Amino acid sequence: MDSKPVVPAAASDEDLKRGPLVCAAGVVKSYGPVKALDRIDLHVDAGEFVALLGLNGAGKSTLFQLLSGLFVPDAGSITVNGADMRRNPVEGLRGLGIVFQDATLDLDLPVSTSLHFHAGLRGMARAVASERMMQELGRLGLTDSAGTIARKLSGGNRRRVELARALMHDPTVLLLDEPTAGLDPMVRRDLLSYVRKLCGERGLGVLWATHLVEEAEGADRVMVLHRGRVVESAPPAAILQKAGKPSLSDAFLSLIEPRTPPAAGAAVERAAS
Ligand SMILES: Nc1ncnc2c1ncn2[C@@H]1O[C@H](COP(=O)(O)OP(=O)(O)O)[C@@H](O)[C@H]1O
Ligand SMILES: [Mg+2]
Repeated sequence: MDSKPVVPAAASDEDLKRGPLVCAAGVVKSYGPVKALDRIDLHVDAGEFVALLGLNGAGKSTLFQLLSGLFVPDAGSITVNGADMRRNPVEGLRGLGIVFQDATLDLDLPVSTSLHFHAGLRGMARAVASERMMQELGRLGLTDSAGTIARKLSGGNRRRVELARALMHDPTVLLLDEPTAGLDPMVRRDLLSYVRKLCGERGLGVLWATHLVEEAEGADRVMVLHRGRVVESAPPAAILQKAGKPSLSDAFLSLIEPRTPPAAGAAVERAAS
């Protein structure tokens, strides 16, 4: 499990500034009787690529909603860029970029209109926004798409535009919630390696949610989320070693399979078949 100490809920603002880029301590969130997140501790450091690996329903999107301040946890604390998201969400969001699970690009607008609108929401001057937009689109090979109506772009390029939008204000932290869902394997690999490189080049801290084990294999650290609980948080090699499994896929399955022995009747049934 994660051995790094989490920043205590009562830390001073100065303590928080020296801590990880993203930090959650004892986070709980329920929807009625469903406990979507149960005492989650996590941290993401500068330059670190953390894969949040979990099946559908594990709680990944709920965690992202809390980290990005859309909802407030029932219990526990979250800090982003040293700012407590309960007390000072505006400060936290200043350095946060996010790509949501569902596409949030207005398909009827030219790419540049969407990106300028978002930059405006973040208080960026138009000239600065234009420059940053073209830098980010250019790096993603989309210079010629700035004037294109989003609907005309491929699924992969729409996702790339969302990524460019999330990076325009130079965040220190990037949250991506299943960013490759519905994309073909080539585009998936390309997006993953692009974001992976950003960690080294810009010291960006990344939390990449996925249910695909292969996307977690190259992560600095894998956090396995299962039924709202973190059941493992370690580099991939350490997870393999600890689980005594030859692949991350096998290790992942061993972590999320029920650990209780089968009922006596089930064992007899299997023996008889
Ligand atoms: N708005 C909601 N209302 C009720 N239950 C929800 C809501 N959002 C998520 N859940 C439940 O919380 C759990 C975690 O869901 P989610 O965070 O979407 O998981 P993931 O993103 O890993 O697929 C699931 O059991 C889901 O059904
Ligand atoms: Mg989800």
